[in-house]
Amino acid sequence: MNKRLSALYDKIPPGVGVIDVGTDHGYLPAALAASGYPGRIFASDIRIEPLHAAERTAARAGVSERIEFLLCDGLALCPPDAVDTIVIAGMGGDTIVKILDEAEFCMDSRYLLILQPMTKPEVLRYWLAYNEFEILSESLVQETGGLYQILTARFGGNTKLCDAELFVGKASLTENLDLYRLALEQLEARLFKALGGMQGREDFSPRLRLYREVEKQVKELRKSV
Ligand SMILES: C[S@@+](CC[C@H](N)C(=O)[O-])C[C@H]1O[C@@H](n2cnc3c(N)ncnc32)[C@H](O)[C@@H]1O
Repeated sequence: MNKRLSALYDKIPPGVGVIDVGTDHGYLPAALAASGYPGRIFASDIRIEPLHAAERTAARAGVSERIEFLLCDGLALCPPDAVDTIVIAGMGGDTIVKILDEAEFCMDSRYLLILQPMTKPEVLRYWLAYNEFEILSESLVQETGGLYQILTARFGGNTKLCDAELFVGKASLTENLDLYRLALEQLEARLFKALGGMQGREDFSPRLRLYREVEKQVKELRKSV
């Protein structure tokens, strides 16, 4: 497993059961099964080819009997009582939101959510905060290909985030502040570029105002961490 998958793996506590939604290659469930995870292990994917790849990974690791494979959209076939940890990684923040939004059973403090958005983390954090999830931790992993954000959350809390924190998370919850500073630097550069492209475009004015505000907040955050 690469650093990103290892970081996800490290966050999974022993428990009743875990589901890896959008498993693709199936490395995460295979590693859990091989390491003696005590509960049930589910691997799901919306497409059959990735699910077959996950089955081959499990067979190579000699753990096929330990993993239950589900062909479904999001959490549609996940038995709610059989899991207490839900991993959704390697997808856009908007896709993760859609999956959670369609699985009302997740709105229960029994479930630990381990989420890793590839894009639009602000959409995911906004949805979590709006739906009364508490964001418990934030981690950043740097690997060839970029900086990856991993967050854990549980229903029943009160997460307050400013606009800039929707993009990068809260410093106080973040494990590695060096990488947090790098994430802020990258966000500021992205906003600078986006703002440059919007100059003089009246049709962009609401977004222009928002990005200017986020840029201001990012500068403040950079001073404070
Ligand atoms: C880029 S892979 C990520 C694989 C793995 N989770 C990881 O983090 O390395 C995304 C996978 O999610 C699956 N996927 C996308 N939308 C999904 C959905 N709504 N429900 C289940 N799986 C989905 C895709 O078929 C693909 O196999």
